[in-house]
Amino acid sequence: MLKQSINLLNVLFLFFFSACGNFDEIKSNPRASGVVFEFDFEAIKEDVFKPNNCTECHKQYNDYSTVRKLSNKILSAVLENRMPKNGPAVSFEQKQKLTKWVNDGAPEFKEANGEFVEETLEPNWESIFKNVISLKCLDCHNPERKIGGLDFSTLETFRDTENRLIIKPSPFLDTQNPANSYLISIITDPNFPMPPSDSNIDGVSLEEVGVIMEWIKNGLKETVKD
Ligand code: HEC
Ligand code: HEC
Repeated sequence: MLKQSINLLNVLFLFFFSACGNFDEIKSNPRASGVVFEFDFEAIKEDVFKPNNCTECHKQYNDYSTVRKLSNKILSAVLENRMPKNGPAVSFEQKQKLTKWVNDGAPEFKEANGEFVEETLEPNWESIFKNVISLKCLDCHNPERKIGGLDFSTLETFRDTENRLIIKPSPFLDTQNPANSYLISIITDPNFPMPPSDSNIDGVSLEEVGVIMEWIKNGLKETVKD
């Protein structure tokens, strides 16, 4: 019941702000419509993330493309008062600001001076870190919060998982037979996957698993140039 009324509030928020924002026009072609958005990423960082310590626990929220990809998740975590973790709920004004920004398409700048280009996931650490690890693993496996003793913030510490796991039925990263990697079993485990299914964090998609396997097979390249 509580959850339902919270969701209703959420929907009302979205409806109210999108109704007065001429949403479709803005989203489809910001330049042609000459729109100046009310809030940019900097304003969201300064006025919402910093005062609520979001960037304290989620260092990756300093990066625009990460926040853009997670923007709907971030909005629901805030409107449903799941975040900030162990802290007071975000204020009504800050919720309004975040809602408006997300509904405007989460623009980086007030004056849309170029379309945002979605990157495709590539089989190198840089791309996998940015598009998968920092969105789906880093909240729990980072230098401050090393759950299971694991820190995935660099390729070096990620590879070191091999030496940190006491029980592992197969190599963490098996370059001879990528599908045999313990990493692959753990992100595709139907019963207890990583990220944990009760965490509200999206699971790793089949497409992402494919690129990760290709990365392992090609010898764990750090950047596209390696
Ligand atoms: C004290 C540390 C801390 C603070 C502050 C914090 N978070 Fe989190 N957040 C976490 C942790 C840890 C997780 C991983 C899931 C869990 O343990 O609940 C998480 C998970 C999330 C998730 C994904 C899971 C979900 O519930 O949707 C989102 C989105 C999120 N946080 C957004 C935010 C935002 C936005 C803020 C600021 C308003 C914030 N967090 C503040 C620690 C924090
Ligand atoms: C919401 C928190 C959370 C997120 C997000 C998360 N994990 Fe975990 N992870 C855990 C917990 C809790 C454990 C310890 C489980 C246990 O006690 O066996 C763990 C353990 C692990 C282990 C060690 C398992 C073992 O057998 O000892 C690996 C490897 C791992 N996680 C990988 C990942 C990967 C890869 C991602 C992202 C795709 C991820 N985790 C995302 C919470 C998380």
